[in-house]
Amino acid sequence: MDNPNTAAAPERRARILSGIQPSGTPTLGNYIGAMRNWKLLSDDFDCLYMIADLHSITVRQEPAKLREQSKNLLALLLAIGLDPQKNILFFQSHVHQHAELAWLLNCYTYMGEMSRMTQFKDKSAKHADNINCGLFTYPVLMAGDILLYQANLVPVGKDQTQHLEICRDIATRFNGIYGNVFTVPEGYYPKLGANIMSLQDPLHKMSKSDADDCFISMLDEPDAVRRKIRRAVTDSDGEIRYNPETKPGVSNLLTILCALTGEAMEDAVARLSGKGYGELKAEVTEAAVSTLAPIQQDFKRYLADKAFLEETWRQGAERASRIAERTLSKAMKKIGFIPR
Ligand code: TYM
Repeated sequence: MDNPNTAAAPERRARILSGIQPSGTPTLGNYIGAMRNWKLLSDDFDCLYMIADLHSITVRQEPAKLREQSKNLLALLLAIGLDPQKNILFFQSHVHQHAELAWLLNCYTYMGEMSRMTQFKDKSAKHADNINCGLFTYPVLMAGDILLYQANLVPVGKDQTQHLEICRDIATRFNGIYGNVFTVPEGYYPKLGANIMSLQDPLHKMSKSDADDCFISMLDEPDAVRRKIRRAVTDSDGEIRYNPETKPGVSNLLTILCALTGEAMEDAVARLSGKGYGELKAEVTEAAVSTLAPIQQDFKRYLADKAFLEETWRQGAERASRIAERTLSKAMKKIGFIPR
């Protein structure tokens, strides 16, 4: 038997944290860019996946809809195969340490850094009547989300790169003043599909807050998927080639196809060369429908099981809070607050 005094302490597995806003039904972009990796990583890492409800109120939300979308999102996380025993699934607003650490970190972040954030610029242009302070300091809340859990890896799509960089900067700055308080995290991006584009405007990312025909929602029925992909913008030269600059629409469809089927891009392009866009679209539709069908079935099952959903979020909050509290207390002590 090992001598407990000499046996090495078991090493903690690398930790993962990521989140998604309940500001609509997730799209195929959310799935390919982030959620699918969450499932793939969940066997080898200690994972926390969070429904970022605090983040979602930077844009006005209707209360009943926010509640519904939040519950749906939890059911969807279960439906993509995230086991709530192995992973910590929780609502951000249930863990009060997020808002508290965000305040602390706000005092270690500069206005200039926040003003450079492209998402702030985009969102304030889109919601010119509601450019609130939360929208401005959104990346600080997000930095806190990650740092609270000492996450090593953050699986996200490409649009979050800038937020992750600022998180690393804030952590490094804080550690520089107080010693090693926070783990400085790395982003983790899918090889293909880190930036899925809008079906109607393939120069912009697919977003759940755009018009309905710009995105495939993870809960779209097969008919809706077929219709939206049939209408997806391509180009007039009729050739199936991968070149996101000159052929953004066709390249986006090829990316969706290969990301979902696992086929190598060269193979798909070679196989489809000489064929028409109609055939490409039919294949993309088939890949999307067959990916989404089993998820949608499980989603309905989980959504109907209210007791299980509630137990999942309750336990998730408890487990997340324990980890979060350790980091928050440590940071507060370092800053010089008197422990209670
Ligand atoms: P959100 O809700 O906008 O998106 C959730 C995840 O989906 C990815 N994503 C995409 N990937 C590829 N192509 C697309 N078109 C596409 N659209 C979205 C996003 O990159 C993201 O990974 N700020 C985050 C939520 C958040 C968070 C966090 C993430 C809050 N705290 C801490 C990681 C760690 C957001 O708004 O994601």
